[in-house]
Amino acid sequence: MRSLTKVMAASAVAALALTGCGRADEETPTDTAGGGASGAAEAFPKDALIGVSLPQKTSENWVLAENLFKDDLAKAGFKADVQFANGGVGEQQNQIQSMVTKGAKVIVIGAIDGAQLGTQVKAAKDAGATVIAYDRLIKNTDAVDYYVAYDNFKVGELQGNALLEGMAAKKPQGPYNIELFAGSPDDANAQVFFDGAMSVLKPKIDDGTLKVTSNQTAFNQAVTQGWKAENAQKRMDTLLSASYASATLDGVLSPNDTLARAIITSVKAAGKPVPVVTGQDSEVESVKSIMAGEQYSTINKDTRNLVKATLEMVAALQKGEKPTVTDDKSYDNGVKVVPANLLEPLIVTKANAKEAYANDPTLSKVTG
Ligand code: BGC
Repeated sequence: MRSLTKVMAASAVAALALTGCGRADEETPTDTAGGGASGAAEAFPKDALIGVSLPQKTSENWVLAENLFKDDLAKAGFKADVQFANGGVGEQQNQIQSMVTKGAKVIVIGAIDGAQLGTQVKAAKDAGATVIAYDRLIKNTDAVDYYVAYDNFKVGELQGNALLEGMAAKKPQGPYNIELFAGSPDDANAQVFFDGAMSVLKPKIDDGTLKVTSNQTAFNQAVTQGWKAENAQKRMDTLLSASYASATLDGVLSPNDTLARAIITSVKAAGKPVPVVTGQDSEVESVKSIMAGEQYSTINKDTRNLVKATLEMVAALQKGEKPTVTDDKSYDNGVKVVPANLLEPLIVTKANAKEAYANDPTLSKVTG
């Protein structure tokens, strides 16, 4: 686990403590990851129904997850009900409720809005189902049993470091002019990615190495509603015309690949040189852009491994065993610390892309 000092260095630890969501302070007493609501439930039949409720298709990883869940649950002998909620929060609430009614034994949820599912996950618990938050934390309820995700804070740290390294490679001496983008505020991950990145960038802003020319350094100034490309593109257009008439933009913190490409589109449309732009998800178009020397970095969070870790949880629950938990401290959802299985994200730039995607049938073709 990351050390206390490192966690305390996170810019918004105090804010997190106040809002009671996101990462928990390391000194928070841990939940009994083996008792209470999170204890091993009773075994259930090997061909039970497993529900998977996914959010909107805001990035490729969700689409990959849909196919993997369908195939792998079927291969394991379960009945699978895998749904997207493209229509929004109400649709996702109805889907989960209907999975409960159909008798699903485990419900895996990638939440659109992590704070709006309290009623549905309580219904799931009352019906004896186990609830797994997939990729995104479900907040303000004790009815979520487990969380499985890539380490979100680490993703942010990797992005912050990549931004610094990318700019230093282009121009050895600062100060550097940068802008900051965050994800959608209804997704619990967005704040954690931002805090991870700011744990690296804030000290450099404070010592003058970095200058956020727009002065928009707060999470709620940087957010991108709905993780939508057009919202990031519009904000970048505005920032460029307001703050970069004469200044050069050296770098942009982008929380994911979809937004990174929107930011690059905006900069190009303004006739400016492409700055160092970070990303996340290893989307095909972004890996192409990295290989072409445009987007600087992405993060590899191989969806195959995340689905595999989730299915391992389901398999343990089917046998009445307690699933693997690697972290029972970090994810306070406001009501409980949710026992988590966290996977390690990997930073990818042009320098290590070939190696990073060597076993990915699609991306290894892009890296050549
Ligand atoms: C995921 C990211 C993804 C974003 C938008 C987040 O919750 O962790 O991988 O880029 O949602 O879909």
